[in-house]
Amino acid sequence: MATNRTFTMIKPDAFGAGNSGAILEMIETAGFKIIALKATRLTEELAAEFYLVHKERPFYADLCRYMSSGPILAAILEKTNAVADFRSLIGATNPENAAEGTIRKRFATSIEANAIHGSDSDENALIEGNFFFNAFEHQG
Ligand code: TYD
Repeated sequence: MATNRTFTMIKPDAFGAGNSGAILEMIETAGFKIIALKATRLTEELAAEFYLVHKERPFYADLCRYMSSGPILAAILEKTNAVADFRSLIGATNPENAAEGTIRKRFATSIEANAIHGSDSDENALIEGNFFFNAFEHQG
């Protein structure tokens, strides 16, 4: 299987609760290499742009408010089969449905404040990584 990259954000709930270290440890233990990493903060406008695919969904406005409510950690990660393996590691969107051993099972507090983002395709991983990082920041 090819080595490829995914994009993640540790969301305001998990970052604010001081869970970034434990989450990064789970990510590295699962075999992901950190290519780029930074603490940053979205404005509501930037969150709206990042989540544009969801603009017709009923949760969109709340999601944009929530995602801009505090700092986050953004990262580009590398591993064989990165996108699919990372989605497995983070678990289901709703933590009530997340499997034991997943990041969301351990750290998410609700479907909105669900601790972590993971790209859903190679194409989106590239788009999302480029949303947060300049080319020189993820040369590997
Ligand atoms: P989605 O892309 O469906 O989930 P995932 O993050 O697992 O790929 O939704 C994006 C985010 O929107 C999700 O992480 C949390 C939020 N969200 C809600 O607040 N309420 C909802 O009912 C859904 C489906 C998502």
